[in-house]
Amino acid sequence: MKILRRLLKERELLNAGFTNKIIQNEMGKLLEIENLTKFYTSGYILTEKKVAVDNVSFSIKKSEVFCLVGESGSGKTTIGNIVLRLLKPTSGKILLDGRDIYSYDKKTYWRKVQAVFQDPYSSFNFFYTIDKPLHDAFHLLEKRSSREERKKVIKATFEKMGMNPDEIMGRYPHQLSGGQMQRILIARSFILHPELLVADEPTSMVDASTRVSVLNELLRLKEQEKLSVLFITHDLAQAYYIGDRIAIMQKGKIVESGLVEEVIFEPKHPYTKNLIKSVPPLHEKWKL
Ligand SMILES: Nc1ncnc2c1ncn2[C@@H]1O[C@H](COP(=O)(O)OP(=O)(O)OP(=O)(O)O)[C@@H](O)[C@H]1O
Ligand SMILES: [Mg+2]
Repeated sequence: MKILRRLLKERELLNAGFTNKIIQNEMGKLLEIENLTKFYTSGYILTEKKVAVDNVSFSIKKSEVFCLVGESGSGKTTIGNIVLRLLKPTSGKILLDGRDIYSYDKKTYWRKVQAVFQDPYSSFNFFYTIDKPLHDAFHLLEKRSSREERKKVIKATFEKMGMNPDEIMGRYPHQLSGGQMQRILIARSFILHPELLVADEPTSMVDASTRVSVLNELLRLKEQEKLSVLFITHDLAQAYYIGDRIAIMQKGKIVESGLVEEVIFEPKHPYTKNLIKSVPPLHEKWKL
């Protein structure tokens, strides 16, 4: 608990001077998920149904970090992939800006909703320099641009993130650390100025020292660019550090949700209480 309180203090310091939380909470809903259910089926003759997500509802406001926390297999990634339209739901409704997500054409939707995944290396092809995926991001934009124009935007995006473009561009993936790669991917998603970022365990392959810089980058984008984030993690300490609201998942269901401080300091569900008990050992490997 002490560690969690210290993290909160640090987050308050980081947010000092940024938008006030109360103003932010008065803003509208960006993403609305209603009664979302997903079955996976396996086998051809004797098909077996597996309920991965079971009647889940929640919403994400503009400029809010909403965390999905739960044990392995609780359905977090399935929800993230459904929101990204990489997976179709079995039933339920998902609205972005009040419109069904399937009413957008794919390009428009992926300009608005971007992703950062667990393994940054999987998003790069080792035969190309990292410039290629950065330039490729522009394919989703309607306006065609020259290589020079794209380079300018990429450089400006890196500079805004406090990274030196000359140290990054032209390099091959193996010449960069996991943390650098993850921040490059966040920068890439930001070329498109998305409204929502789905971040699925974005720091799990990043070393402890750069983990906080990845989280801080997401917080900065939230505050300064009004980005909303669906942050998926099994690490309650990270959810506490970055989240405004949190939903605790177990076996495909949300068992408890609310403001991060409320859920963590006044947990009601026995599963949440158990998760909180295991935070200190979890946190030992999470050195700041
Ligand atoms: N393509 C698939 N086919 C069949 N079952 C699947 C498939 N993908 C996931 N599942 C099952 O659905 C459930 C939810 O999986 P999901 O990946 O959403 O969990 P998770 O909360 O993200 O877990 P983790 O923390 O390990 O990433 C699990 O029981 C998993 O085995
Ligand atoms: Mg997962």
